[in-house]
Amino acid sequence: MKKADLLMIPGPTPLPEAVREVLSRPAIGHRSAEFKEVLKRVFPNLRWIFQCKNQVFLYTASGTGAMEAALSNTHNAEDRILVLVNGVFSQRWVEIAKTLGITVESLDVPPGEAHTPGMLREYLQANVGTRYKSVMMTHSETSTGVLSPIHELTAVCRETHPETLVIADTITSLGAAHFDLESWDVDIAVSGSQKGFMLPPGLSFLALSDRAWQAHQQCQNPGYYFNFTRYQKAQADNTTPYTPATPQILGLDVALQLMMDEGLEGIVKRHTQLRDMTRAGLKAMGLELFVPQDQYASPSVTSFMPPEGVSVDAVRAALKKRFGIVIADGQKELKGKIMRIGHLGNVSAREVLTTLSALEAVLVDLHVNVPAGAGVAAAIQVQQEALAAHA
Ligand SMILES: Cc1ncc(COP(=O)(O)O)c(C=O)c1O
Repeated sequence: MKKADLLMIPGPTPLPEAVREVLSRPAIGHRSAEFKEVLKRVFPNLRWIFQCKNQVFLYTASGTGAMEAALSNTHNAEDRILVLVNGVFSQRWVEIAKTLGITVESLDVPPGEAHTPGMLREYLQANVGTRYKSVMMTHSETSTGVLSPIHELTAVCRETHPETLVIADTITSLGAAHFDLESWDVDIAVSGSQKGFMLPPGLSFLALSDRAWQAHQQCQNPGYYFNFTRYQKAQADNTTPYTPATPQILGLDVALQLMMDEGLEGIVKRHTQLRDMTRAGLKAMGLELFVPQDQYASPSVTSFMPPEGVSVDAVRAALKKRFGIVIADGQKELKGKIMRIGHLGNVSAREVLTTLSALEAVLVDLHVNVPAGAGVAAAIQVQQEALAAHA
């Protein structure tokens, strides 16, 4: 019997039953009273997940659309920005900014590492006279599995460059890691539906501060489709400026309710535990983690190196063929060098233990000397300790 594949990738993530049910409902009009009622719930609930008092803009576009919107709505061509680069997705900020004619400086650290507050402070102090319109950062760098301390990095920006906007990609951190736009004083955060939101791809979200809204007022060419002003006006009337992806928004309504039922603390606790179980399991199997420092390990994705002499393709293909489990390859220069297990969204200890035990079987097949059951035992121990701590 063919079962649906288990997606253990950092997005798209598995869909909850209740979300799948609304996605298959008959079409409804996007200007109907019923849809307005849905948006009336969705808009404030989005503010809750970002911890943001202002309207959160809802785009029918993947996460990259919201990234572009963050820049195109608040920057002018003569602006200069600083991008903290530590992987493929943080590099995307550089690429988008360049297409808008913005001057880009980047502060790079090797993939697998995070920028530290000390490093950023040193850089900004050395450039204290430079007017940066924004500093761009990536909370969870999905290409490597690094979680950056963006709360502290934002505080460092405020020391020397208080007017500079702090813009964060929270695409694989929202709904997995702790994030608070207001109290962390972040100006713009963007996220996408196919990640912690447990939805199909196609929606993205943009939360903003008053400072970012003021920057928008001074933006000479904010574009058309993603223009903040159009979304602000439409959303104030519980509607959208253009035809949105209505089924996804019905799903979003349900997914946000599921997230609220679990609560922000519960969501973060679950993902942290899944990360710790995955890391402990992989280590016990003798595998090397790509992000060695626990404090920088993302709660949504864990990357690791294949054992000596074993190819990433062989492991991934065997997992898919024998168990119907999909894990991710590395990206760009890390393709074929690391593998990534997503533990994001609608996942639990059950999926992590299944993946670890399947990985063990596959490695044994590939003649790797893995201590029998060690990965699963280590992960269970982490779970038991967490259960005991919260009992
Ligand atoms: C951290 C991060 N930023 C940006 C993106 C791009 O989002 P999308 O593919 O939805 O455009 C992704 C997608 O995986 C991501 O993980």
